[in-house]
Amino acid sequence: MGFREEIDTHKLPKHVAVIMDGNGRWAKGKGKMRVFGHHNGVLSVRDVVEGAGELGIKYLTLYTFSAENWNRPKYEVTAIMELLISTINKEIKKLMENNVRLNTIGDIDKLPEKCYVELKNAVEKTSANTGLVLTLALSYSSRREITDAAKAIAAKVEKGLIKAEDVDEALFAQHLHTADMPDPELLIRTSGEYRISNFLLWQIAYAELYFTDKLWPDFRREDLFEAILDYQKRERRFGLISEQIN
Ligand code: IPE
Ligand code: IPE
Ligand code: MG
Repeated sequence: MGFREEIDTHKLPKHVAVIMDGNGRWAKGKGKMRVFGHHNGVLSVRDVVEGAGELGIKYLTLYTFSAENWNRPKYEVTAIMELLISTINKEIKKLMENNVRLNTIGDIDKLPEKCYVELKNAVEKTSANTGLVLTLALSYSSRREITDAAKAIAAKVEKGLIKAEDVDEALFAQHLHTADMPDPELLIRTSGEYRISNFLLWQIAYAELYFTDKLWPDFRREDLFEAILDYQKRERRFGLISEQIN
């Protein structure tokens, strides 16, 4: 029996987030340039998006490019941006067919103009789709997101729109880029690194973490299913004791 058949579809995580890591090492292992890894990583994205949609996952958030990634060698950044543009172009038809709604988080106005425009168009074009919500984190920094939220809230207090004592967790969450999404129940990171790298710090407060040694270009929907199955075997206690849950 494959992992897919073992999954209890009534107990799916609503939101799965993925730190797609290991493209460079994958390419290096094959004696190729890092960019070759990024190109192959797109095949994994396509397969995982399809797998998530078919399974009935509602939200899939992919860490695609971090704010820190701008500091990589210029040719790599340029290649990633070009890949992003060509991929959106190529995939838009599939997204429509599969009823996927594209969304972004992060400072996307920092992306090259062409990239920004393509993304905006794709988000607009898929906005009425009712299936999987696919969110790409681009030029994303969780600390910046949290700082910006604090700034926006402070400005509202200053203007007298809200009172300082009205600021609670729910209001704070409403000022994050993920305002209209539930928190991820499951966070996957590939490539054998055990860190969060400034991704969704607020939102993963109680997420189940899943790490795999697989490099992102080797990751496929079966690996997603394996991670979800692992998630379903865990007991989420939220501070309670086991007896209170069962
Ligand atoms: C993840 O793979 C993709 C991005 C961060 C854009 P990496 O490019 O980080 O690959 P490794 O970690 O160097 O192998
Ligand atoms: C995290 O991967 C960012 C993305 C997957 C887009 P990195 O490869 O940039 O993370 P670090 O720098 O090794 O932590
Ligand atoms: Mg990496």
